[in-house]
Amino acid sequence: MKQKKLWGGRFAQAPSSLMVRIGESISFDRELYKQDIKGSISHSRMLKKIGILTNEEQKKIERGLLQIREEITSGTFVFKMEDEDIHMSVETRLTELLGDLGKKLHTARSRNDQVSQDVRLYLKDEIREILVLMKRLLDTWVAKAENNVDVMIPGYTHLQIAQPIRASHYFLSHFWANVRDFEDFWSAYERSDELVLGSGALAGVNYETDREFLKTDLGLNKVSENSIDAVSQRDHILKFLFASSQFYIHASRFCEEVILFSSQEFSYFKLPDSLTTGSSIMPQKKNPDVAELIRGKSGRVIGGLNHIFLMMKGTPFAYNRDFQEDKIPLFDCVKQMKLGLEGITEMVEGVQIFPANALRSLRAGFSTATDLADWLVFQKKIPFRTSHEIVGELVKVCSEKGWDLFSIPTAERAKVNPVLAEPGYEESIALETSCDKKNVYGGTARKRQMEQLRAAKRKIKEFEKKINIVFKGTKN
Ligand code: ARG
Repeated sequence: MKQKKLWGGRFAQAPSSLMVRIGESISFDRELYKQDIKGSISHSRMLKKIGILTNEEQKKIERGLLQIREEITSGTFVFKMEDEDIHMSVETRLTELLGDLGKKLHTARSRNDQVSQDVRLYLKDEIREILVLMKRLLDTWVAKAENNVDVMIPGYTHLQIAQPIRASHYFLSHFWANVRDFEDFWSAYERSDELVLGSGALAGVNYETDREFLKTDLGLNKVSENSIDAVSQRDHILKFLFASSQFYIHASRFCEEVILFSSQEFSYFKLPDSLTTGSSIMPQKKNPDVAELIRGKSGRVIGGLNHIFLMMKGTPFAYNRDFQEDKIPLFDCVKQMKLGLEGITEMVEGVQIFPANALRSLRAGFSTATDLADWLVFQKKIPFRTSHEIVGELVKVCSEKGWDLFSIPTAERAKVNPVLAEPGYEESIALETSCDKKNVYGGTARKRQMEQLRAAKRKIKEFEKKINIVFKGTKN
């Protein structure tokens, strides 16, 4: 005989095999077991407080739940598809252990508020860890920048050599993108930091559930305002997936740069052997797989964000079973976030820079042509449009003859325009000078780089404080 469901009272028939298979979420939502048990323990304490459970009963339930947690952690727990989801698996086992007492736990609760709560607790736990990994990445960017203030690399627009920049400036550009990511994960953490229990199926519950007590016991920051909204919305998941997608967009752009810059044609960067792979046919190959994989994963994570958007669209009133599917992209995204963060951190730590190759491109790419034009403006009082034209012509001659701005003979410069043969020319095209003249806040001048390194470190200190706040009072 098929086992009766916990909700089976009004049913004459057991669910079909299809219903069991399509309806189960235990194959994936077991990921929530710690949060589910934590929520149930607090719920049982609250039930004691309002007189539904005796002191003795609550103690037994709490002990039973802790035992179940241990069984799941150690792998001895037997999950059954018939138990549908993590909530019913835990409850069924509790009833096995405690008999009728186990059946009291679900008083004043619905799986609708239970699952919403579990996911919020789960997000808080996972975002905490992600914030720590993000901070490690931020530290790594700063260390890399600090070691490369005096290395010049080409800056690009349209992937054409534009102007020389300090490598520190480049690394810190990724640092600041990840600062915004950190802030957005923080915001997703705050969005999740809310008590839902007490909302019941949608309308609230027929008991005097002490929501303030539950809030404090679960270490949450606020109580949801509207029970319908509380069980309906998945904005915390959307926000988390958005922050993750944004991180992955940033990560994929860095990966693309590493892939390009470590190709033979550029050769500015080299990834350590430990982060690359060989080819089974071409003995000379060393492929930047880690960067390609992270670039590839960005599609997967952004797909997850779309999954939730589309899943939510048009779902009417409060809980709908569609929402069960929210966990698949969520859990996957958490895993990909941790992998991606670790991957980028190792890439930044390990990537080797070849300043001589960057220098070769800086020269060949006429990277200081703008500086030369500006020199004509400042020193020779030539209007900018005219100086732009003169330098453009010089670049054309150089390109035709295989010279760069440094190697073209003085006499040839004079042929383009006598002013180009005057003293001061060499200094005006010097790479380091070019950088140091960009002396605006946020610019590539050495002085500004040192200032930005200090600002970056201050930002990290600020984040350190936030991390300490979220870890306060969390032992399990
Ligand atoms: N497994 C379900 C989910 O993840 C739990 C809530 C089920 N609620 C219901 N009324 N069937 O969404």
